[in-house]
Amino acid sequence: MIKKAVLPVAGFGTRFLPASKAIPKEMLPIIDKPLVQYAVEEAINIGVEEIIFITSPEKFSIKKHFDTNHGFESRLKNSKKLEMIDRLNPKIFKEIKFHYILQEEQNGLGHAVLHAEKVVGKDPFAVLLPDDLFFSKKSCLSQLLDIYKKTESSVIAVNKIDKENIHKYGVIKPGEIKEKLIKIEDIVEKPSYEEAPSDIAVCGRYIFNASIFKFLKSTNFDKSGEIQLTDAIKKLLQEERVYASIYDGEKFDCGSKKGFVHATIALALRNESISEDIKKIIKEIV
Ligand code: G1P
Repeated sequence: MIKKAVLPVAGFGTRFLPASKAIPKEMLPIIDKPLVQYAVEEAINIGVEEIIFITSPEKFSIKKHFDTNHGFESRLKNSKKLEMIDRLNPKIFKEIKFHYILQEEQNGLGHAVLHAEKVVGKDPFAVLLPDDLFFSKKSCLSQLLDIYKKTESSVIAVNKIDKENIHKYGVIKPGEIKEKLIKIEDIVEKPSYEEAPSDIAVCGRYIFNASIFKFLKSTNFDKSGEIQLTDAIKKLLQEERVYASIYDGEKFDCGSKKGFVHATIALALRNESISEDIKKIIKEIV
């Protein structure tokens, strides 16, 4: 049902300097897999067939990562390391079409998503912000897809946040609530503690109807000089229902050092080949 996913990856990654000087921050690994690959796999696992990266010229290694590497594959075959081939060139990527659209100027998330309009066309599509890493039995995007199938309305993943951190997120004003499904009444980008309409924040997964593009086009730059996706959603709300779905699972904000290290520890403790050793190491350190 959702065949296309947009991944904005053009950001500078200043919080991860100097690591992000020569390597895009999306390519930094959590254990042995680049952050961006977790989001790509999440999209493919709900049936997405086209991945649309909104990227910048410096980030050529993202393309290299998703291209099939034939030379390395034959070397693995020759040295009988067949079990490594699917790690190098995963079978699930074979049928996927990867698009790379350059965002020349960094004018915000809304500006980035608007770049995908030509490729997306009139179909509903997903947006995944790779900095947000989710772990749950049913993936975050799959939870959104369930709602989209029932409502055919745009739907956004949300979670409750400590009010002290609310200024870092898009925040919704909830309307009618049925279990984990909320009808959104209003939405604001990065409000102050005092002005936040709730403690329910937008996390980095969305499913949109293509009508969002119309509103992105008429959205002005905000005070910080960016075109915000949140501001376009605010406009969309005037014409269509938009839902928020409370995400059920773990979330790591890998755009911050704390979240990145947290995700690394959490995944290491789940990785069969190293978890026992890592437990010992943590005990020794603590
Ligand atoms: C973006 C969105 C914000 C959302 C957040 C989730 O902000 O603009 O509404 O809550 O992602 O991670 P950013 O983190 O890019 O500043």
